Amino acid sequence: MNGNPAFETLLDRSLIARRVAELGETITRDLCGSKPLLLPVLDGAMVFAADLMREISLPLIMRPLKASSYGVASRSSGTLNLHQGVPADVAGQDILLIDDILDTGLTLKTLRAAVHHAGAASVRTCVLLRKESSRHLEADYIGFEIPDRFVVGYGLDLAGNYRNLRDIVFIPQEDVATGGEIT
Ligand code: PRP
Repeated sequence: MNGNPAFETLLDRSLIARRVAELGETITRDLCGSKPLLLPVLDGAMVFAADLMREISLPLIMRPLKASSYGVASRSSGTLNLHQGVPADVAGQDILLIDDILDTGLTLKTLRAAVHHAGAASVRTCVLLRKESSRHLEADYIGFEIPDRFVVGYGLDLAGNYRNLRDIVFIPQEDVATGGEIT
């Protein structure tokens, strides 16, 4: 099921699962001896984070953050709305910020600064996807480099739709333009 026969699959579920397992192994190795605090950025990272945390063989705590910059639009508003701030207990912890996609970089840049400011012992970032045009933006762990096209599925949305697709698929430009309403 990729939502619509017109949608071209970019990353299918088995490829995603293999890469998420690899990321989990690497993070487990890098954070060996630590009890990291995972901060997934909702809503987009919820599916990725749920899978990734089960591939990390360490004691850990997960505390999702709600942040958004896109609203119902398909372009970033340029301002990050961090709905409830950063949790007080990040102080002294090894933090892993988890997001679904690195696009303009605003989300991770803002959150990394906020978490540092709150006294984290260390901050690492993990994204499932990085767009081609964002190659100059760094994250500690990157799942896949993808073309500069609009993608949905595996947590990623268009105006709230398609997050439940198991594969990550391209959305045709005309659907992006009309807001991706499912009728
Ligand atoms: C999307 C996505 C990332 C962010 C990446 O979130 O889930 O968090 O944008 O873009 P950036 O690198 O330009 O900051 P969105 O604002 O759409 O909220 P959502 O996660 O609730 O869909």
